[in-house]
Amino acid sequence: MKLYEELAEVVTERIENGYFQPGDKLPSIRQMSVEHHVSISTVQEAYRLLEDKKIAEARLKSGYYVTASQYSPDLPSISRPSQKPLVVSQWELVVKLLHSHEQDNELALGKGTPDVGSSTLKPLAKFMADFSRRNDIANFTYDSLQGSKELRHQIARLMVDSGCRLHPDDIVTTTGCQEALTCSMRSIATAGDIVAIDSPTYYGSMQTIQAMGLKALEIPTHPETGISLEALELALEQWPIKVVQLTPVCNNPLGYTMPDANKQRLIELAKQYDIAIIEDDIYGDLSYTYPRPRTIKSFDDDGRVLFCSSFSKTISPAFRTGWCAPGRYLQQMKHMKYVSTACGSILQPRAIAEFIAQGHYERHVRKMRTQYLKNRDRMIDWVSRYIPEGTKMTYPQGGY
Ligand SMILES: Cc1ncc(COP(=O)(O)O)c(C=O)c1O
Repeated sequence: MKLYEELAEVVTERIENGYFQPGDKLPSIRQMSVEHHVSISTVQEAYRLLEDKKIAEARLKSGYYVTASQYSPDLPSISRPSQKPLVVSQWELVVKLLHSHEQDNELALGKGTPDVGSSTLKPLAKFMADFSRRNDIANFTYDSLQGSKELRHQIARLMVDSGCRLHPDDIVTTTGCQEALTCSMRSIATAGDIVAIDSPTYYGSMQTIQAMGLKALEIPTHPETGISLEALELALEQWPIKVVQLTPVCNNPLGYTMPDANKQRLIELAKQYDIAIIEDDIYGDLSYTYPRPRTIKSFDDDGRVLFCSSFSKTISPAFRTGWCAPGRYLQQMKHMKYVSTACGSILQPRAIAEFIAQGHYERHVRKMRTQYLKNRDRMIDWVSRYIPEGTKMTYPQGGY
């Protein structure tokens, strides 16, 4: 046995004995080289071998980590929803879910709430306190209809990471992503229209469809690549679809990220059939890969994508701060925001803008991404160990 193979075996044994858990960082190459009196290249070879065996994985600029050891993807099959546009119901189920609280023996998995205990959020609390304490009369008035200029400026900067080149005036701030989604839908569709959606989809957007008297046409969705574009094309040929709404990056609930080629193809289809796209990117910044994946919006060259997001998953839902980049629907979007809330609050957006401007957002998100990735690997490990064989599981690319 070669030296690097022996070393790989030592690490494998430590993992099997529980010394390193799935998601744990393995010792650095330098550390291993000193500890085992071997050359750097021997450690590199050993780690590469572990990578080939899917025991460890390399993460950019971060080192090697233990992969979810038991992971053997027994994926759910592609969804097979009804092939007809349907009226949405489910409101009673949503109410039940909203009223469910975590109990001692029960973990509430129906709501996606971030870990808000992280020390990286402390500066935000300080900015909020500072803004309130200053007793600045300017803070006690209406915000502009389009929303805080400082925040829109910071959002435009952040969105560069997902491939978007936007001006702050292309953005409208909203009360959370839910308002962004609802105002987007109201900017495009009216009662009776058909909306194509990924399946399963986020229950909140289903309620917008329900409340507006729209019909939902669920499109078969693959747990690793997202909405089936072949099925969507067939549906577009058959039905007068007005808009497609989907969550292509770090999808909730399936966890997939749609490949870039599919995002591009979706834009082509939308052009061909002249439909709009509502893109929900609420978990996008919590992607485990860095740089984060591109959005559909980043491929949009004629303004047909209404991009929606918020800081509810990355920072905290308590701030109720979200936004929309509605492309060519900007005027309709501003009107619908006015109808919905006239304008948002002024303090939270200013505090968040300061938090981003001073680099705290990126620091916070970087930390949370690592933490959530670790949680994912642990969860996959536990599900494969303790949940009965035959259970199907997806392999989320981001989020909680
Ligand atoms: C996919 C998705 N979109 C939108 C929302 C609503 O976000 P917000 O709390 O910012 O209104 C959620 C919240 O759970 C969500 O999971």
